[in-house]
Amino acid sequence: MSGRLTLVPGPAHPLADPRDPLGLRADAPLLDGWLASTEAADRGALTPMCTPGHKQRHDLTGAVVAGDTPLYGGVDTIKHADTLLADAEARAARLWGADWCRFSVAGSTHGNQTLALAVGTPGQEAIVTRCLHRSLLLGLVLAGLRPVWVLPERDTDTGLPGAVAVQTVRSALAAHPRACAVFLGDPSYVGTTGDLAGHADAAHEAGVPLIVDAAWAAYLGFHPDLPPHAIAAGADGMVTSAHKTLPAATQGALVFARTGLLDRARLDRAFEATHTTSPAGAITASVDAARALLAKDGKQLCARLLRLVATAKRRLAQVPGVAVLDGPGMDPAKLVVLLAGAGADGYAVEADLIAAGMPVELGDRDMIIPIVTVADTEDTVARFCDTLAASVERRRGPARRPEPSPAWSVVPQMAIPPREAFFAPNQTVPADAAVGRISAELVAPYPPGIPVLAPGEVVTADALAALRTAKAQGGRIAYAADPSLATFQVITRA
Ligand SMILES: Cc1ncc(COP(=O)(O)O)c(C=O)c1O
Repeated sequence: MSGRLTLVPGPAHPLADPRDPLGLRADAPLLDGWLASTEAADRGALTPMCTPGHKQRHDLTGAVVAGDTPLYGGVDTIKHADTLLADAEARAARLWGADWCRFSVAGSTHGNQTLALAVGTPGQEAIVTRCLHRSLLLGLVLAGLRPVWVLPERDTDTGLPGAVAVQTVRSALAAHPRACAVFLGDPSYVGTTGDLAGHADAAHEAGVPLIVDAAWAAYLGFHPDLPPHAIAAGADGMVTSAHKTLPAATQGALVFARTGLLDRARLDRAFEATHTTSPAGAITASVDAARALLAKDGKQLCARLLRLVATAKRRLAQVPGVAVLDGPGMDPAKLVVLLAGAGADGYAVEADLIAAGMPVELGDRDMIIPIVTVADTEDTVARFCDTLAASVERRRGPARRPEPSPAWSVVPQMAIPPREAFFAPNQTVPADAAVGRISAELVAPYPPGIPVLAPGEVVTADALAALRTAKAQGGRIAYAADPSLATFQVITRA
């Protein structure tokens, strides 16, 4: 490991700019603009007569607006910022080997919707994993695409999702020759990965693009022990959340494409359709900075990340009854901790971790998923493992069979396409009366945000029971008009 990297997160070089301790601005045009603009604001050199309305004053709404400057009119002039943005996005495209890249301030949510709007025509079919994030489902609604669902493999011991098999996608493409694209999520929320090169071949043989939601793994491809990222594996489109696993600001995301099967102008139109016209300078600059950091030190940072996760896995696997997901088909930088064998209630363990100041990304009855990133250290990961192990000891009980979230095991019965259902007249009915009717709404335990019910799908007794179980165990039921699950919104009968 280089001497420079052992400084993270220790003291910077004595001559370094404390606002840019690793000197990234020389290779990051948006970061450079943000640093210059906020420095001018801090020394009172600006009298902005444009948005934002706080005018760089911190005596009204206070510190909450510190560092906020718009991309247009802050990072650079309204007329010139596009040039900096295009430069920064071109640098990212080069780093990931893509032809097209855009920085989003609306997360992979917006990226998924961009890519859905970039393919096909309303009414056309698309092959889509049913293990999809709700943002892509709403992308299908926006674009009017009719999903042909494909289901991932499931691990019989844990009930957790693996990847979608290439043969499953090939069969779907053969049965639906007019489908316009294949949409997959890889790695899955639990870090399982599939044969993306095989999927790319299958999609390309059918003449359609492969589009991959890689929201959770922006670091893929930056170390030889990590799987290649989707674009390198042959995908035509990929979205990833810079904010989830890179040191970028919340909401920052990257959308990539290889043009050919996807059209550059259509991609731009799709991206702009639902993006704000006022992107935050700090978010876009932080994506630029994260890209510059990966370009400079990505391999060493990912080497350390891999070491941290491997150490954590070894440590946690020593706790009797606790298991971690590992092995081929698993992103080696992902830490997924299984608790059923120790009989500890994951919701209680999550509460202990929150009380210790260690919020995790997912805690359900049987599983804890922390996000470990290049910003973690031996110390943060060791403290997390110790706190988790102590909580498991306190909460220990008889080993039980895991009862996975219903999100992983949805077997959808699509009655009408999601877009049709979204706009259809609907009514609210008691839960039991909803069984057998067509859902007007999207209902998802969150995390992971995979719809158990999607608009247009039949409300089955199994789905209702599974949602009730998830709620009774302490899970958050998101997006339902009635999160108590007492009533559901269903399509009005003709
Ligand atoms: C698989 C997947 N895709 C997309 C998203 C949306 O990402 P963002 O929060 O960056 O909008 C999420 C969020 O959790 C996700 O899990």
